[in-house]
Amino acid sequence: MAYRSFRKFLDALEQAGELKRIAVPVDSDLLIAEWANREMKSPGGGLALLFEQPIVRGKKSEFPVAINTMGSRRRMTLALQVADIEDVAREIQLILKAKPPTDLSGGWSLLKQGVHLLHARPKHVNEGPCQEVVHLFAERPTANGFTLRDLPILKCWPKDGGRFITLANVHTRDPETGARNVGIYRMQIYDEHTTGMHWQVHKVGARHGKRYYERGERMPVAVTLGGDPVYTFAATAPLPDGLDELLFAGFVRKRSIELVPCKTIDLDIPADTDFVFEGYVQPGEMRPEGPFGDHTGFYTAIEDYPVFHLTAITHRRDAIYPTTIVGIPPMEDYYIGDACVRIFLPVFKMNFPEIVDMTLPPEGVFHNLVFVSIRKQYPYQAFKVMHGLWGMGQMMFSKYIVTVDEDCDVHNTSEVIFRLCANTDPARDTTVIKNPSDSLDHAPSEQNVGSHMGFDATRKLPGENYRQRQWPELLKMTEEAQALVDALQAQTR
Ligand SMILES: Cc1cc2nc3c(=O)[nH]c(=O)nc-3n(C[C@H](O)[C@H](O)[C@H](O)COP(=O)(O)O)c2cc1C
Repeated sequence: MAYRSFRKFLDALEQAGELKRIAVPVDSDLLIAEWANREMKSPGGGLALLFEQPIVRGKKSEFPVAINTMGSRRRMTLALQVADIEDVAREIQLILKAKPPTDLSGGWSLLKQGVHLLHARPKHVNEGPCQEVVHLFAERPTANGFTLRDLPILKCWPKDGGRFITLANVHTRDPETGARNVGIYRMQIYDEHTTGMHWQVHKVGARHGKRYYERGERMPVAVTLGGDPVYTFAATAPLPDGLDELLFAGFVRKRSIELVPCKTIDLDIPADTDFVFEGYVQPGEMRPEGPFGDHTGFYTAIEDYPVFHLTAITHRRDAIYPTTIVGIPPMEDYYIGDACVRIFLPVFKMNFPEIVDMTLPPEGVFHNLVFVSIRKQYPYQAFKVMHGLWGMGQMMFSKYIVTVDEDCDVHNTSEVIFRLCANTDPARDTTVIKNPSDSLDHAPSEQNVGSHMGFDATRKLPGENYRQRQWPELLKMTEEAQALVDALQAQTR
C-alpha cells in the first residue's frame, strides 16, 4: 500500500469528503494563509484545501497549492493508509517484543513482520516522475528561466521576513558514516536561487552540516516536496539520529521507497515526489533568517542560519505544491505531532513500563506541555519517569511535565488540571531542572537552554513525605446506583 503520488493522496481525501477545492483565485501573499488558518481552527481541524488558482506576484501560478492535508485525526490515518494510528503503534510494539516463535501463529506473525521490514528497505531506480521536468542552473538560474519565484510559496504572516517553504523535506548525509537524514526545516526565499536553511542546533541536519564544516567541504542538500505523504510524516518524526526516515517511511506504508539519483548532486531522493530542489550549503556561510510567525504563536526573531544554493529544480509535469502554516494552536502540525506520540508510545513504554498513556496537548505547542499517566508502585516514581523523558531525544525540550495516576485520562485536559490542583503541594511535588530548550522558545533567559518543571500529581505513597493522614479516596458512585439510574433515565426518555 502506498500512494503513487501526492495527487493520488488528494484524490483519496476528496473521496473521503476530506478535501475542499477552492476554484477562485487566491493570493499566496497572506490570503491563502488566512483562509487556511480559519479552516485549521474549525472543529476537528476542518478540511484539506486545494487552491486551484493561487496567485503569485499578481500572476496565476501553474501549480495548485494544497494545505491542511494532514490536519485532522482522520486525514492522518488516510495519509498513513491505516484504519487507526494505533495500528502502526501495535506493529512497532510487536517488533519490540518479538521473540522466537513457539507456535505456528507466532511464526506467522513474525514472518509478516519480517516481510514488512524487508519491504521497508529503499531501492534504487534510474528514473522517476519527480524528474519529468528538469531545470539545471550552471551557476545561477537564467534571468527568464524557471526559478523559485515561479512557485506559489506562501507569505504566512504580515511581519514575516518573506516567503517561506514550510513543508520542505530536507535530505542530507553524514559525510563520515554515509547515514541519510530527512528532516523538515523551513526555508526562507532570499532570491531566485538562494534560501535560508533553518535547521536548529539540536537537529540532525545541523549535525551533518557541522561535519562538513569541519572538513571544509561543500555540503550537498536535496529538498523534496510532496509525493507519498508518509515522507513528510517520517521527516517530522523525532527518530533517533542514524535511523533512516525513508526506511521508517517504507515500514509504515509497507512498501519500500524508490529512490532516484539527483541530477547535480550526489544524493538520492524518492522518485515520486512533486518537486526537488538540488543544491548545497557552503561551510561557514550564514545569513540573517526570519522573522517568522512560528509554532509558538509568536514571531521568532531574526537569527543567522546557513544558506542553501540551488543547482537544479526538477518536478512532475502535474506537480502540486504542498504547504502548511504554523501559528497560534491548534494548527495542522498538532495532528502530525499527535500521531507521532501515539505511534511512539510503545517505545516510551518499553523504556518506562509504568507509563500508561501520554499526550502533548495543543496548548503546549509540542514541547511546552506533556501529560503522562503512570501505574505507580513506589515513592518518587513520577520523578524517575520525568527525568527519563527529559533524557529521551526531543523530549528533552519538554518545558512542563505533569504526571498523574493511571486512572486519569491524559487526553482530558480539565481532568489533568483537576488532579494537578488537588494532588500537589507545590514545594514537595515539583522539580525544576536544567536542560536544552527548544530554539524557538522565546521565554528562557538564554537561547537553547533553560529550566524545565515537573509536577508529581499522583497520589502520595509512604516515603513521599505525606504524613498528615491517609491519602483520600477519589469520589466514585457505586456501579449498582449507576445502573439503576441508567434504567430509570431510559424509562423517562
Ligand atoms: C511544519 C513543520 C515545520 C518545522 N520547521 C522546522 C524548522 O524550521 N527547523 C527545525 O529545526 N525543525 C522544524 N520542524 C521540526 C522538525 O522537523 C522535527 O524536529 C524533526 O524531527 C527534525 O528531524 P531531525 O531530528 O532528523 O533533524 C518542523 C516541523 C513541522 C511539522
